[in-house]
Amino acid sequence: MSVAKKEYKRVTVKSLVDMKKRGEKISMLTAYDYTMAKIVDGAGIDVILVGDSASNVMAGHETTLPITLDQMIYHASSVIRAIERALVVVDLPFGSYQSDPKEALRSAIRIMKESGGHAVKMEGGKEVKDSIKRILHAGIPVMGHLGLTPQSIYKFGTYTVRAKEEQEAQRLKEDAIMLEKAGCFAIVLEKIPAKLAQEVAKSVSIPVIGIGAGAGVDGQVLVTHDMIGMTHEFNPRFLRRYMNLYEEMTNAFTQYGEDVKSGDFPNNDEQY
Ligand code: KIV
Repeated sequence: MSVAKKEYKRVTVKSLVDMKKRGEKISMLTAYDYTMAKIVDGAGIDVILVGDSASNVMAGHETTLPITLDQMIYHASSVIRAIERALVVVDLPFGSYQSDPKEALRSAIRIMKESGGHAVKMEGGKEVKDSIKRILHAGIPVMGHLGLTPQSIYKFGTYTVRAKEEQEAQRLKEDAIMLEKAGCFAIVLEKIPAKLAQEVAKSVSIPVIGIGAGAGVDGQVLVTHDMIGMTHEFNPRFLRRYMNLYEEMTNAFTQYGEDVKSGDFPNNDEQY
C-alpha cells in the first residue's frame, strides 16, 4: 500500500526540515503533467519538482534554457490539480530571475498565484542571494540548487561532475551556508563528489537533496522519465532505472499498430 493511502498529512517545508532532524530521508521526483503527478503523489513521494528539465523531457530541447515562465506555470498548474500530499516545488526558469531581485520576485509571485505551487527553486549561490531574500520576504519558500546548474551550461561547457577542485568545492560550501542563512528551506546538490555533498549536508540544518551527489545527503531526487526508463539515451552513472518503459511502450505501440493493420483490433467485445 502506498504511503499516501495510509497518511494524507500534507508535506510542508517545515515537515521536510523535521524529517532531516529525525534522520528520515526525503524522496523527490519530477512531474510536469497531471497524470504523472497523480501516480507520483499516490506512491507517497514527499516532494514533486516541476523541473525546468521539462524543457528537455517534454519539449525536446537540448538544454533547459528555452522553457518560459508561462510554460512552467502551465506544467505546474497541471501538477497541482493532481496532488493530495506532496509538496510541489516549481523551478524558476532561465531568464525569469537573473537580471534583478524585482524581476525574480515578480516571476516567483506569478508561479505561486497562477499555478498554486508551494515553493520555487532557483539555481546559484551568492549571485542570486538578493533575489532569494526578496522572494522570501514575500513569504514564498525557496529551494536552492548548487553544483551542476544546467541553466549555466554554456558557462561550464559540459555536464560533467562539478566541484572536484578545491577552490570550487570551497565556494560551494560557502554558498550552501549562505543559502541556509538567507532562509532557503532546502538545497539541491547536483552531480558533485559524494564526500563533498555529505560534508555540506552536515554543515547545514536544512535538508540537502542530491542528484548524483551520493548517499550522505538528506534525500534524493531523480527525473521521473529517466528512472522509469521512458528516456533511454541519457545514462549517467547516478541514474538507477526502475523500469524499462521505453522498451515496454515500444512493444505496446508496435503490437497496436500490427493489430490495427491486421484487423485484430477491435474485436467483437471491443465494440458497441
Ligand atoms: O529540472 C530538474 O529536473 C532539476 C533536477 C535535476 C534537480 O532541477
